[in-house]
Amino acid sequence: MDIESIERIKESALQKIDGAKTIEELDQIRVAYIGKKGEITLVLQSISCLRPEERPKIGALINKVKRQIEAALTQKSISSIKEEEFDETVPEIPVRLGRKHPINQVKEEIVGIFSQMGFGIEQGPEIEQTEYNFDLLNIPPDHPARDMHDTFYISDNLLLRTHTSPVQIRVMKKRKPPIRIIVPGRVYRRDADVSHSPMFHQVEGLLVDKNIRFSDLKGVLACFLHQMFGEDVPVRFRPSYFPFTEPSAEIDIGCILCQYKGCRVCKNTGWLEILGAGMVDPNVLRNVGFDPEEWTGFAFGLGIERIAMLKFGISDIRAFFANDIRFLSQF
Ligand code: PHE
Repeated sequence: MDIESIERIKESALQKIDGAKTIEELDQIRVAYIGKKGEITLVLQSISCLRPEERPKIGALINKVKRQIEAALTQKSISSIKEEEFDETVPEIPVRLGRKHPINQVKEEIVGIFSQMGFGIEQGPEIEQTEYNFDLLNIPPDHPARDMHDTFYISDNLLLRTHTSPVQIRVMKKRKPPIRIIVPGRVYRRDADVSHSPMFHQVEGLLVDKNIRFSDLKGVLACFLHQMFGEDVPVRFRPSYFPFTEPSAEIDIGCILCQYKGCRVCKNTGWLEILGAGMVDPNVLRNVGFDPEEWTGFAFGLGIERIAMLKFGISDIRAFFANDIRFLSQF
């Protein structure tokens, strides 16, 4: 076996490949040269008959030739497939484009507005410790929110988080202020009807720094609501109660469905409740080791499904999770 005969095999192979007219012919050539009993394969096997000092050079050459033949075969089969098998009269396979789920669309819009205001995105686990979901948020064991009726318990100290607020605790425990975050995520409650789903989505917000006042909360949330629902939409703050904020508020916008005249959705009040919020309770700050004399902050939470229902005029929350393609393709 010498260099010339290897070169000769190569030339004949490349010539035959070049002249091949069909895929079948190319297959035969492949078998004849680089198949199990092909010429190149046999040559490669006979290398052990050579003197040891000749082996590396000849071996390298054979391998190179083998790669060249393979490349030529591939090249030729691509171009012959194009000529032989492409039939432009075959009807196309219809491609159905997917879309973003409406909940994701609304989530991205909300997150986008807060990102522009400088809020970073955080996440936390959906299986949460009772301590984070309740205790450290100043929710005492006898609080109604702890009732088995609302919460999916996994064990005495593990549950499916009922809100995104435990992520406030997680972030404050691992980081010092200034903190400015939003937390989009899934939450779970034992509740199911046209406006409640056992799994739904919230966006939590938390800002902790020096000299943060209620007016900062008002400014940030009014700015968000005006971007989300339009510059002209009226916004009102109502006193409310959450164990982890003090003072607390619920924030309404004028009903965008009836233009504040009163309808079924706003229960004839002309207002829609959109957000829960308040100043972070000093007990919560102490629970994570912050001095409430030095740091103050605000927190807020909103339900994504509720906003999506208002925005798209959907009256049954279950439509979001039935995954009916006819429903989803409308967005
Ligand atoms: N976690 C509250 C809820 O799920 C919402 C909220 C968040 C209220 C932050 C105040 C501050 O209802």
